[in-house]
Amino acid sequence: MLARKMQFRLLPSIGVTLIATVVLVSCQHTPQSTDTAPAPATLGDANTRAAFLNGWRFQQGVPASFGEHAMVVSNSMLASEAGVEVLKQGGNAVDAAVATGFALAVTFPFAGNIGGGGFMNIRMADGRSAAIDYREVAPLASTRNMYVDANGKLTDKSTVGYLASGVPGAVAGLTEALKKYGTLSLAQVMAPAIRLARDGFVVDSAFARSLNGSKKLVTQFEGRSLFFPNGNVLAPGSRLVQRDLARSLSLIAAEGANAFYRGSIADSLVANMQRGGGIITKVDLANYTPVWRTPIRSTYRGYTLFTMPPASSGGITMTETLNVLENFAPLPAFGSTQYVHLLTESYRRAFTDRNQTLGDPAFIKNPVDKLISKSYAKSLAGQIEPSRASKTAAFNAGVEPTHTTHYSVVDAKGNAVATTTTLNGGFGSGVWVRGGGFFMNNEMDDFAAQPGSPNMFGLVQGESNAIQPGKRMLSAMSPTIVLDQQGKLLMVTGAAGGPTIITATMEVILNVIEFHMTLADAMRAPRMHHQALPDTIRVEADGFSGAVLDSLKGMGHAVREQTGLANVNSILRVAGGWHGVREPRSVGGAVGY
Ligand code: DON
Repeated sequence: MLARKMQFRLLPSIGVTLIATVVLVSCQHTPQSTDTAPAPATLGDANTRAAFLNGWRFQQGVPASFGEHAMVVSNSMLASEAGVEVLKQGGNAVDAAVATGFALAVTFPFAGNIGGGGFMNIRMADGRSAAIDYREVAPLASTRNMYVDANGKLTDKSTVGYLASGVPGAVAGLTEALKKYGTLSLAQVMAPAIRLARDGFVVDSAFARSLNGSKKLVTQFEGRSLFFPNGNVLAPGSRLVQRDLARSLSLIAAEGANAFYRGSIADSLVANMQRGGGIITKVDLANYTPVWRTPIRSTYRGYTLFTMPPASSGGITMTETLNVLENFAPLPAFGSTQYVHLLTESYRRAFTDRNQTLGDPAFIKNPVDKLISKSYAKSLAGQIEPSRASKTAAFNAGVEPTHTTHYSVVDAKGNAVATTTTLNGGFGSGVWVRGGGFFMNNEMDDFAAQPGSPNMFGLVQGESNAIQPGKRMLSAMSPTIVLDQQGKLLMVTGAAGGPTIITATMEVILNVIEFHMTLADAMRAPRMHHQALPDTIRVEADGFSGAVLDSLKGMGHAVREQTGLANVNSILRVAGGWHGVREPRSVGGAVGY
């Protein structure tokens, strides 16, 4: 049933004026404390209808964590507390982010890591803005077809075992960020992580469950005796002490990143690779360099977004989508057929560009200027038909593991850090470095191991992201910082979830600035996703009405329901302080003071 007549209002080419008017009239965002009603929507009548459906798994109107001065939100309460500990010692947001990052490597080894990589987006209160790309790179001995067998079939070696890892960037990235923007010593910010590894922490049931879910992977390699003593998963309530990791972290705290890339940790890592048939060498490690980049700066209805440039696709894909959506004012009501259709058609176009054209800027020329231009978006918006799905060729979806992790930090001065880091799959390649005490990533699967064939996220990517030695694999990680229309820090957010990172991060932002939801509601609202291929809209089950799903199918969309989409951790400025909300679909903690 078509609940309402679908009509998109595409802004005409004199839209600059109209947009300005819309902004003035409609986008005076007044962040609300969670114990008051959301601000009346001023974007138009349609946008007041943002109520959750009956039967949706999350309740509307629950409170967020509040911090008067500062806030840290991550997928581990202990890691968030590590960040706050450092803030209270006088550290700034970068100090706290580095503390949280190293603590996550201890308390959230599913995704927190020193054997992986990530992206950090920094916005200092004085207006300086920077992004550090510490993405893994392909080892020098890697080859274009290293994951294709003699019959031309893709193997699982890009996801499991010694060949799946890129050269880790996490230690280089975190230490470099601290050097340039931090105020405390490495030893000071790493102290909580070292303590958690050395003295241990109590395993809870979520930690045990998640380990057990990856039992087959982890027990193939040398982490089995630590995480599955006597063959059984660590019992909830037991204390996990990680001696090897404590030693590695202490070495890094004392000697800096060199301990990891040239010293004894490098020795353990390379010995481990040689034992298992991996190809990462000491030269690979010694060559690793994180890269400072200029964040992509874009605007959406007068708000300013700072997002991640390549080697992540996140910033470009978000910007392109938002630029398309900006042509429609107001957006259709949250959760309506038109809303899902419009987001889908915008995502489809942005992901098509992403999948076909983007890659490591050291190897290919990314058409950044075109993809983030308002005029290009306007031409894409003009292609969208209000009541008919357009098509991209179909094939099967990949399975989505959920083990990247995002954390957001704001300090008392208003400095902000958004960081996303990953091993790619849960526990990465499964390989655990004996002597080093950490899991290795399986990030090589983010390359187009066989251009045109889907990777584990079902992403079909092209030549621009083919494997080349020393190249960074294209990422979807989207650590994002949003300023309000006065240029004041408003939101810090980002997500885990492969390609759903991009869509979920953007949807949480839209929920706040378009639909005027509180942060708690914006995080709990049902999510949807489309990535061009497979040509299927994924929606969270019970989040969208049966009538809406039927209408979408009637328009020619394929729709698939699933439980849970992505893992977002966010901060929003509110009157008198900050709201922090950790992903309600996962674990973690928002700690403010
Ligand atoms: O960089 C990327 O886009 C992926 N390696 C992210 C993987 C991920 O988010 C997995 N977990 N949810």
